[in-house]
This record gives sequence, C-alpha cells and structure tokens, in this order.
Amino acid sequence: MLKCKSYLLLGPLLVLLIAVIGGQAETVPCKLRDAKYGKVCVCTADYCDYLDNPTLSSDDEFALISSSKKGLRFELNKGNFGSKDSYVIKDYEEPDTEAAASNDTILSRLMDQALGNIFSQTASTTSSITRSVNLNLDRSKRYQRIEGFGGSFTGAVSYLLENYKEQDIHDHLYKSFYAANGLGFNLMRMSMGGSDFDLGPWAYNEKPENETILTGMDQLDDRDVIRVEQIKRLRDISGVENLRIKAAAWSAPPWMKTNNRWTGFGQLKREYYQTWADYHLKWVDLMVKNGLPIWAISTGNEPMNGILFMAFVKFMSMGWIPQTQAVWVDENLGPTIRNSKYKDLVIFGNDDQRQTSPFWFKQMNRTRPGSLKYIDGVALHWYWDEIFGSSFVYSTSEYMANKIQIISESCIGDKPWQKSAPLLGSWERAEKLGRSFMSHFKDGFHGWIDWNIILDEAGGPNYVKNTVDAPVIANTTSFTEFYKQPMFYIMGHFSKLVPEGSVHIEAVASNVNLDCVAFVRPDGKIVVVLFNTGRADLNINITDTIRGKLLVNVPARSIHTLLYN
Ligand SMILES: *[C@@H]1O[C@H](CO)[C@@H](O)[C@H](O)[C@H]1NC(C)=O
Ligand SMILES: *[C@@H]1O[C@H](CO)[C@@H](O)[C@H](O)[C@H]1NC(C)=O
Ligand SMILES: *[C@@H]1O[C@H](CO)[C@@H](O)[C@H](O)[C@H]1NC(C)=O
Ligand SMILES: *[C@@H]1O[C@H](CO)[C@@H](O)[C@H](O)[C@H]1NC(C)=O
Ligand SMILES: *[C@@H]1O[C@H](CO)[C@@H](O)[C@H](O)[C@H]1NC(C)=O
Repeated sequence: MLKCKSYLLLGPLLVLLIAVIGGQAETVPCKLRDAKYGKVCVCTADYCDYLDNPTLSSDDEFALISSSKKGLRFELNKGNFGSKDSYVIKDYEEPDTEAAASNDTILSRLMDQALGNIFSQTASTTSSITRSVNLNLDRSKRYQRIEGFGGSFTGAVSYLLENYKEQDIHDHLYKSFYAANGLGFNLMRMSMGGSDFDLGPWAYNEKPENETILTGMDQLDDRDVIRVEQIKRLRDISGVENLRIKAAAWSAPPWMKTNNRWTGFGQLKREYYQTWADYHLKWVDLMVKNGLPIWAISTGNEPMNGILFMAFVKFMSMGWIPQTQAVWVDENLGPTIRNSKYKDLVIFGNDDQRQTSPFWFKQMNRTRPGSLKYIDGVALHWYWDEIFGSSFVYSTSEYMANKIQIISESCIGDKPWQKSAPLLGSWERAEKLGRSFMSHFKDGFHGWIDWNIILDEAGGPNYVKNTVDAPVIANTTSFTEFYKQPMFYIMGHFSKLVPEGSVHIEAVASNVNLDCVAFVRPDGKIVVVLFNTGRADLNINITDTIRGKLLVNVPARSIHTLLYN
C-alpha cells in the first residue's frame, strides 16, 4: 500500500520535472524574417518560437491569439467579456531601422509584451476603412466531434531531417507541430513503403517475388529504421498524449501488379488479393513490434491514379475501381483485420480527391453490400476543391454518416497554374488553406491531416519532381535553420486550442466579412476561430448565450483564436 501511494505522488512530480527539463513550458516569440513573398519565422538549433497555451483566471476572462499578413504570429492578448470598450488588436509594425531587424524585432516585441501595450483599448489608427459584423455563439447547438489535426512523415521529411546534423533542430521541428506549446497536432499520416515524396519508389517484400507468404517482411526496411526512430523521438520529445498514426500504401511491389511496374495502368492481380491484405496486417505488426502503434490504415492512396490519371501521375500508384475494391475489402482486407489482434484498427476508404465521393462508396455498396461495414472512415484529398464545390462534402457526410470524415492530404502548388514550389512567406496561400479548413469543419468534417511537415526550397525531394509547398521549409544550403510559413500558423489557429474530443458548435456571423467556426472543448471551454480575409479592419461584435458581449477590432488580413469559459 505504502509503496503504491508513494508512486502515486512521484508520478505527477516526475511529469512536472520532465516538462521543465524538456523545456516544454515556454513562450518564445517568432523571429521574423522578410522572404520573397512575405514573412517567415526562422528556427535554428538554439532558437524557435513557441506559445504556451493560455490559462484563464476568471469566468469572464478571454485569451485571443492573433496572426496577420503584416507580421503578427501567435500574438497573445487577454481581456474580459462584458467590458464596455472595444478591444483593438494592433497589427504588426515594421521596426524603425532595417539594420539588425530580426534582433530588434524580438527585443522590442518582448518589451512591448512586458509593457502590455500591443493590446490597447484605444481606436485603431492603422486602417482607414472599418467594417462590422455581429457574431452569435450558442454552445447548446452541437455538431460533429473533432478527431484532431496532423501532418505527414514521408521519406522526404525523414531524409531532410537526416541532413540536419543537430538533434536540437529536429526536436524544434517535432515540438513545433506536436507539442502543446506548438500546434498541438495529434494525428499523423505515413506511407507503407514509399510515396512520391521519397528518393525512389519502394515497398516491403519487393523480394522474394511471387510468394504469397511474405517472408521479406520480418524486419524494418533501412529507410524505416531511421523514420521509425525519428517518429518515436517526435512522440517523446513533443509530449503528444495520443499520437494517432494513419498509414496508406501507394503501391504493392510490382510483382503483385498486372503491369509489373510501379506506375501506369496497373492493378492488383486477383491471385494476390489475400497476400495484399496480409501485407497490411504484417506492416502494422512490424510497426507495433518496433514501438510504433498504428491507429488506422486506408484502402490505398489515390486509387484513380492507376486507372485514369496515368498521363499526369508518374509516381508509384496502384489502380482500383470501386467494384474491385469492394471485393477486396469484403473478402480479404476486412476479414483479415477484424479476425486479427488488430481488429480495432480503423479502416479509411477512398483516400482520393473529393469529387470521387460518395460515388465511390455507393458503387462499393452496389457491388458488395457488406463491404462498407468494414469502412470506419472517409479520407479525402483537398486538391480539386476550388473546381469541385462542397456539394461532394455534404453528400459524403450524408451518405457516410456516423463514419469518421477527414482530409488526409493537402498542400498547395499541385496545379498546372500554380508555382509548383514553395512561395516563402506567402499569406495568400495560407488564406486558401484557412478557407478550406473553415468550410470542411462547417460541413461536418472531423479532422485534417496536412501533407509533408517539411520540404526543401524547391518543394522536394520528390523522385518524380512532383514538387509542392509545405508549412515548413528547410534551408538545404546550410542545414542550420528552417522557416515556418504563414500556412503553419493558419493551421495552428485551428489545431492549437482544439484538442481531440472537442465538438463543433453553432457560430453565426451576420455577414460575409467574417469567416468563423467554433468548438466546445472537453474541458468545457469555448474556442472560436475568427478569420478576416478582407482588406479592411473589422469590428466583431460577439454575443455568447452564456458569457455575454465582447467587442473586438481586428486588422485587415488576419486570423484569431479566441478562448473563453
Ligand atoms: C542579436 O545581435 C547580437 C549581435 O549583433 C547577436 O550576438 C545575438 O545573437 C543576436 N540575438 C538574436 C536572438 O539573434
Ligand atoms: C514471377 O512471376 C512472373 C509472372 O508469372 C514471372 O515473369 C517472373 O519471372 C516470376 N519471378 C520469379 C522470381 O520467379
Ligand atoms: C447498401 O445496399 C443495400 C442493399 O443493396 C441497401 O439495403 C443499403 O441501404 C445500402 N447501404 C447504403 C449505405 O447505401
Ligand atoms: C540559406 O542559408 C544560406 C547560407 O546561410 C543563406 O545564404 C540563404 O539566404 C538562406 N536561404 C534563405 C531562404 O534564407
Ligand atoms: C452587437 O450586436 C447586438 C445584437 O447581436 C446588438 O444589440 C448591439 O447593438 C451590437 N453592438 C454594436 C456595438 O454594434
């Protein structure tokens, strides 16, 4: 008994000690730097920005975190509901002298924060036009549960990290995304074998060929020895409480496929349907044995690439149509997983562009009415959202009600008319991502997993040069710093204060000047994301059914996360 008690006391003490030693309780401002398309925050082995999650000391107190095109990055301010005056969030102002700009910026902003004068109750002088909007919040009207937010740990991410020689910089990247004082991510996507964001195509059990018992899958591939260690380090150093990894295969090894190639028009050979289901189970088991529990798998990345889009897609892919996938899920994958010790593994379907859903699932059900019972969730990719409107999202939500609906891949720079490379500092790209987060959560989605957590200056490495943008960009000249893009902060405005288990609540804005979405957290606190994409500053007149009134003026082109009781 006594022994037990002292352990109980030691537990919390140890956690506290680890938190302090691990440096997880700290707020460090962004080190802003001008880049070609706007501003980025610079991280090095000994400097990276963090924001401790705000605490509230009374029922009326609120905390507001702000970022803007001009240069605010997770600026924290506090105030009280019911206060007579309007609160004004002052936008970032350039330091007077160009010389020693980054150094000055940090120091002057630290001083500003100490003096508390970033946040003033005087009228704004920065913008000449002001618009107004009323926002009504009602926590009694509840919608979907939030599963969480995440990024992807591809071979490209693993390779870039390997080139950073200092462990501290790896740790900053991990904590920036997954620690509580970072973005608070809890989801992660990883490829089973390779993806296009790798140095070359690869899969488990490429050898021995033509053998259904998969003897080539008993140990980690060398690339995964490194990647699995990195992910475990990420989990430990960030302190993420419930890291949920969702895996997807881009392609089976060529010998299982009709065209015996990584790409092009090729599907799984009928005689290997069970082998391919066993491959998934063996992969999950391999990860678990190496200390990495897996939360979910999907039925395969972008199945249409191996059916219709061979002209554009040159990377490893394997084609399915809903009719063949229904048979595989119903006869092979579903029973294999459900009859194994990993029977609770979540299985996501589709894992492709939104315009293929819910058609995909309807066709699966038509072919094999039992097949959808194995599908726990819908995973969609956001790439064609601007062309294919949100009707696909509504109808998917409706048809696949009671299943988990998430975005499992998103990034910018994939379109022929977009620059297929990072635009360092681009607030416009971040706004696109922000608008899409807004619309998906308003339409009933439960989570969002972004693509690569870091890429190089060219938007790679990608073995077929399918380069894109990412929320963090490496400097591969020096490998001593990396840059947090505006996209990083925009995602954080949704993820940071909205933990797993939060629930979407009603938030109604009186006009289009404000885009917003609100949640109630498991601890009962309310989080509202306020997004002003306009060129004028905006008076937001907030009324909460319980807390009452709050008037706040926010600058043009800015996003905010409001937290209150
Ligand atoms: C500020 O500048 C000084 C000298 O110019 C330099 O030693 C110091 O490292 C800089 N601090 C930061 C945080 O960059
Ligand atoms: C595997 O089977 C294919 C098709 O039957 C054949 O072409 C190939 O040579 C076989 N590979 C081995 C190593 O036996
Ligand atoms: C699937 O098909 C069966 C019979 O064909 C039908 O009864 C059922 O409603 C369908 N399920 C869905 C989700 O459409
Ligand atoms: C990357 O580092 C090199 C060497 O320190 C520097 O010259 C270059 O400007 C950096 N790139 C960016 C985008 O800041
Ligand atoms: C704020 O909105 C409420 C109605 O929701 C209205 O009664 C009040 O006059 C508004 N206040 C301002 C300053 O616009």
